[in-house]
Amino acid sequence: MKKIIFSISILFSAFILKAQTETLLTLRPATNQIISKHIYGHFSEHLGRCIYDGFWVDENSTIPNKGRIRLDIVEALKKIKIPNLRWPGGCFADEYHWRDGIGPRNLRPKMVNTNWGGITEDNSFGTHEFLELCEMLQTEPYIAGNVGSGTVEEMAKWVEYLNFDGVSPMTAIRKQNGREQPWKVSFWGVGNESWGCGGNMTAQYYSDEYRRYATYARDYTGAPLKRIAAGANSADYGWTETCMKNIGTRMWGLTLHHYTIPTGKWNAKGSATNFDEGQYFSTMQNCLKMEELVTKHSTIMDKYDPAKKVALVVDEWGIWTDVEPGTNPGFLYQQNSLRDALIAGTTLNIFNNHSDRVKMANLAQTVNVLQALILTEKDKMILTPTYHVFDLFKVHQDAKYLPIAFVSPDYVSGDKKIPALNVSASQDDKGTIHISLVNLDPSKKINLNTVLEGLNWKTVTGQILTSAKINDVNSFSDPSKIHIVKFNGAKKSGNSLSVELPSQSVVVLELKN
Ligand code: AHR
Repeated sequence: MKKIIFSISILFSAFILKAQTETLLTLRPATNQIISKHIYGHFSEHLGRCIYDGFWVDENSTIPNKGRIRLDIVEALKKIKIPNLRWPGGCFADEYHWRDGIGPRNLRPKMVNTNWGGITEDNSFGTHEFLELCEMLQTEPYIAGNVGSGTVEEMAKWVEYLNFDGVSPMTAIRKQNGREQPWKVSFWGVGNESWGCGGNMTAQYYSDEYRRYATYARDYTGAPLKRIAAGANSADYGWTETCMKNIGTRMWGLTLHHYTIPTGKWNAKGSATNFDEGQYFSTMQNCLKMEELVTKHSTIMDKYDPAKKVALVVDEWGIWTDVEPGTNPGFLYQQNSLRDALIAGTTLNIFNNHSDRVKMANLAQTVNVLQALILTEKDKMILTPTYHVFDLFKVHQDAKYLPIAFVSPDYVSGDKKIPALNVSASQDDKGTIHISLVNLDPSKKINLNTVLEGLNWKTVTGQILTSAKINDVNSFSDPSKIHIVKFNGAKKSGNSLSVELPSQSVVVLELKN
């Protein structure tokens, strides 16, 4: 008898222990909410080695290229299906005069890139080159027009040059420059960071200016613009309030910029590779701030636009660290570690879960700048851990959002804690379910039990991105240290799914019928 009671009590304790350490995830059937593919957008500014010595190579370069556009970069970005590319800035956009970047290259005037290192810009990469790049990438262009130092006329003429299909002064110049058909550019930024480098305006002044600029940036036949207003810096909720009140649904989207600064201090941001767990923790705390920002900006937008016609466009996000030692401080070149991959996965999960309002986002920046997807050194190229996250998450593009409920275990550091787990899920047009899971805890795995209410599935497979150390990187001498591998930690039992999610990892599961 004693033996039976003992066995029962062991079983009971095992059950309690399991219940305590297992996180329950409940997925519900899809609504009509689509995770816009444009959440997976990118940003390429005339900054450091993003365009020049990044996408764009020297005239006599031996690196394989087409019309000076580097082909290995194009192939890599096509693989992850980048849906849009923002250009020419950033701060650069509000000093850029598009007419300096068209016509024969040897006649194009030079300018000083005052924002980024004070270097001379030769304007060899301009409108035609950017749109050629977008065609090669099979991606949609997103152009930011100059409000800060430009004119209404200059912006109006740029749109005419790009999008008009009839006889006009601008189309005549376009044809003379070798382009017969209009490009039909749709995403149109009306300025950038107008509260700062884009003119140091007040929200009231900017929103009045927006109305003027946006009026003359015309919709030509077959080429309606999606006008995007320059929105708030992080938690500047007053900016969003004023723009929503004053501009309302005269805009397609309103932007939000938020960077993850490891230390939280702009004058000493912290190293991209040399950091301890304390700094890793504060970085992730700052990254998770995006959840609060998106929620609060959306609440303000809901007040003026309950039908959610205006998109929240997070067109600059990512980690911003100190530059790599020995590089030009104005070029913002930084390495990219497993920490950055966890930031990318977490932020994309946040955007997916807010896809009723967040319809577009752009990581800063694509090549050799800030949280880059790709780093180059002469003819060599590496895909960063962040690139691999975009590769894993591309399955969510334009898929139906699946609501999820769970209570995350804590990742505790000293007397502080953050949620260790973040998740999002979607169902594609073939009925396949994808669940993306991020475990931020650098030392504890998470056991998950998943209930899929009303969702049918037969098989589960998965892929994982992780590494031994949180500051591991892909380098030119070891370019594939961090790469995607098969994940074997998910099992089906009945209609429920159990997952053993390793510490510091990003996992994407695929459930097929
Ligand atoms: O991405 C780098 C810079 O950050 C952009 O030019 C600017 O918009 C922001 O402040």
